[in-house]
Amino acid sequence: MTGVRTFISRRWSRLAHARGRNSAPAPVALLLLLFAAPCWAAGSGDYMMRAEVDLSDRKSLQRGARTFVNYCLSCHSAAFMRYNRLGQDLNISESVLEENFMFGTDKTGDTMKVALNRQEAEQYFGIAPPDLSVTARARGADWLYTYLMTFYRDVSRPTGVNNLAFPDTAMPHVLWELQGWQEPVYREEVREDGRIDRVIDYLEVVTEPPGKPGPYQDESYAETVGDLVNFMVYLGEPVKLKRKTIGAWTIVYLLVLLVIVYLLKREYWRDVK
Ligand code: HEC
Repeated sequence: MTGVRTFISRRWSRLAHARGRNSAPAPVALLLLLFAAPCWAAGSGDYMMRAEVDLSDRKSLQRGARTFVNYCLSCHSAAFMRYNRLGQDLNISESVLEENFMFGTDKTGDTMKVALNRQEAEQYFGIAPPDLSVTARARGADWLYTYLMTFYRDVSRPTGVNNLAFPDTAMPHVLWELQGWQEPVYREEVREDGRIDRVIDYLEVVTEPPGKPGPYQDESYAETVGDLVNFMVYLGEPVKLKRKTIGAWTIVYLLVLLVIVYLLKREYWRDVK
């Protein structure tokens, strides 16, 4: 197939992708796309999905933390985060922390270290998985979300998968048990010079995750990834959680000060008049 090149569609979007799975009637899908348009048009890349970050949602952060320790810490570290800080910030009691979050250590003062050793990792993947402490800040929440949503089967890769946000990534699709396997659906575009481009239109789940059949798993996976990204944004800048509280108290303080200063002013001017 000479002259056929493979691309990712510009139109590609989260909803286009979701649409591929179920069979929403065309007008409904169109309507959805209309609403979706601003989401991806505003993103920094053509194929960026949008992550909804809400650091005030403690439950979401807790769920994200759980997914993170269960699925990511085996290869990646988060060396700037200590378990006891995590517990305090996210309201996780010490016993729950020890039972459900700490697999690599028994000291709550420890940082989130990786289970795998570096040399082995390099041997397996050709590159050591990077520390994830500040990845959300470096890459952005939308990128992270897109990355975790868009692993798709590609037999030409050693891991058997490729990725839309990070082409030829060395990371395997570690969340396949939650998402299942996706495959790209292509469309062909004839260019002006007559050559044909083969374009990835959207990704479609072709194999359901084990034990989770049904048309809704797409959304539940999207929620899991949303929580995970939310958590990773917190991880990148834990003080963000405190910043809002500090801001609110500062305003209360200024208001109280305003009252006092006003009364003081009245007191002074009474003698002048
Ligand atoms: C089996 C080992 C393994 C597991 C488990 C794993 N990763 Fe990775 N990850 C890698 C490798 C290897 C890379 C390096 C990819 C490259 O540079 O090509 C990577 C890269 C990444 C990157 C890109 C970092 C960057 O800025 O370049 C992100 C983000 C990431 N992983 C997130 C995660 C998250 C979130 C999880 C948990 C859901 C996870 N990884 C679980 C092996 C793993």
